[in-house]
Amino acid sequence: MSDAAIKLHVNGREVTVSADDADMSLAEYLHERLDLTGTKVCCGIGVCRACTVGLRYRPEALMEKTLACATTVSTVANQHVYTVESLAQGSRLSALQQSFLESFAFQCGYCTPGFLMAATAMLDHLRQYGLPADRLDEAIDTWVGGNLCRCTGYIKYREAIRKVAQAQLKGGAGS
Ligand code: FES
Ligand code: FES
Repeated sequence: MSDAAIKLHVNGREVTVSADDADMSLAEYLHERLDLTGTKVCCGIGVCRACTVGLRYRPEALMEKTLACATTVSTVANQHVYTVESLAQGSRLSALQQSFLESFAFQCGYCTPGFLMAATAMLDHLRQYGLPADRLDEAIDTWVGGNLCRCTGYIKYREAIRKVAQAQLKGGAGS
């Protein structure tokens, strides 16, 4: 067990984690200590990616992703964690959330936060580096290809992500 309190930021808010909680999984910590229950846990062993959250080592860095079920809180000390609750601004959904809705991308929705956060990280990278249009499907495979969904055939998810990414690459609406 870690022997000192650690700090991290969750959705822009600084959080002090007691030494007793430092070895909790990030998913459990989000649920039990911060009441952020949008991040879902399915397999709990790092396979399905339902628990994907965004991670930056500093606020202006590109967003990466991590599996909250397989990451301890101490692992992300001093870093910036982003959960699905960070995406909407009040009642205004992010472009990606709106696209998921309009594309009927999900059914039960249990896997959706993981898809959203993985795709949000992808959009962050595309915003920084751009991408030739013919490589977009490859990028979607890289970023969300490992996320499992028991309800859908993945096609609608991909369509929804592709729409937002294409608009962003053309300089249109961002995420
Ligand atoms: S819950 Fe399946 S990878 Fe985390
Ligand atoms: S929408 Fe049900 S698991 Fe993906």
